[in-house]
Amino acid sequence: MVKPKVFVTRFIPEKGYELIRDSCKVDLWTDELPPSREDLLQHVHGVDGLLCLLTDKIDVEVLDAAGPNLKVISNFAVGFDNIDIHAATARKIPVGNTPDVLTDATADFAFALMLSVGRRLIEGERYVRNGQWKTWHPMHLLGIEMKGATLGLVGFGRIGKAVARRALGFDMRVIYYDPTETETHSDLKATSVDFEMLLKESDIISLHTPLTAKTHHLIDSRALSKMKPTAVLINTARGPIVDPDALYEALKSNHIFGAGLDVTEPEPLPTDSPLLTLDNILIMPHLGSASITARDNMAWMAARNLIAGVKGERLPNCVNPQVYSR
Ligand code: DGY
Repeated sequence: MVKPKVFVTRFIPEKGYELIRDSCKVDLWTDELPPSREDLLQHVHGVDGLLCLLTDKIDVEVLDAAGPNLKVISNFAVGFDNIDIHAATARKIPVGNTPDVLTDATADFAFALMLSVGRRLIEGERYVRNGQWKTWHPMHLLGIEMKGATLGLVGFGRIGKAVARRALGFDMRVIYYDPTETETHSDLKATSVDFEMLLKESDIISLHTPLTAKTHHLIDSRALSKMKPTAVLINTARGPIVDPDALYEALKSNHIFGAGLDVTEPEPLPTDSPLLTLDNILIMPHLGSASITARDNMAWMAARNLIAGVKGERLPNCVNPQVYSR
C-alpha cells in the first residue's frame, strides 16, 4: 500500500515521530532553524499531511502550494495563531493542536517566572557572579511575597486554572478576566472581575489567553498605567498580547515592579531590544512547554492528529470541527 506523504517541519520527540514514520512517507526538515518561506512552499507541494510548528506561518499561499491532496494540518502546539484557520476551514482541511498535555508544564513555568521576578532571582544571581556580594544587607534586593498577594489571571481556560490551583497553594487571592468569554466555570476559589478591576487590584498579572484581534496589545500603555507600582506582569501566552514599547516605558519608569516574559514580540527578541537593557525584566526563549513529558506528549498528540487526518479520520483534537459538518 502506498504510504501518504507528509512534511514535518522539524525534529520532534521520538514518541510521536515513530508513529509517523510507521504509517507515512516522511519528508523531515532536519535543520536547527525553521524552513524558510521558500523551502516551506516547496516542501509542502503535493503532500497529504503537514506537521508544523508555531514558527511556521500557514496561510493561503502555503495551502495553494500544497495543493488539493492536503488533508490535514497538525500543529505541534496548543496555540494556533500561526495558521489561517478560516482559509483551512474553507477548504475543509482539519487543523489539529495539542491541548492539555502542556497545561501543567506551562503553569509551572508561569509560577517560576512569578517567583523569579517577584523575588529578584536573576538580579541576585548576577550580583553573585559579578563579585558584588560583600555582605548581607537588610535592604538588599527586596521583593514581593506570594502569600496574600492578589493574582490576576487574564484567561481562565485550562492553563489559567492550573495556575490558579498553584496560587491557592501559596495562599494567594485569585481573580480572573477572560477576554474570550468562553466557559470559565470552575470550583476553584477564584473570582471573575472585569478587566479594569483586574488591572487595579492585582499584585501579579499572568496572561493565559490566545492571541486574537481582541487580545493583540491588550496590555498597552493604558492598561499598564492602571497597574500598581508594585505589580508584576507575566506572559507565557503569546508575545503580541503585550505592547513591547509600552512595557519598556512602564518598566523603565518603575511604573510597575517587574515583568517575566516567556514570549515576546517579535520572536526571537532581537539582541538590541531596549527591553534587554532593563534589570527588572526576565526574558525566556519560549520555554513554557519545555518539559520532557510535555514535549513527548505533544509529539504523540500531533502525530495522532496527522495520521488520523491523512487516513481521512476525525482528528482526536481538532480546532475547526466545522470541517466535519455537511
Ligand atoms: C503552544 O503550544 O502554543 C506553546 O506556546 C508552545 O509551548
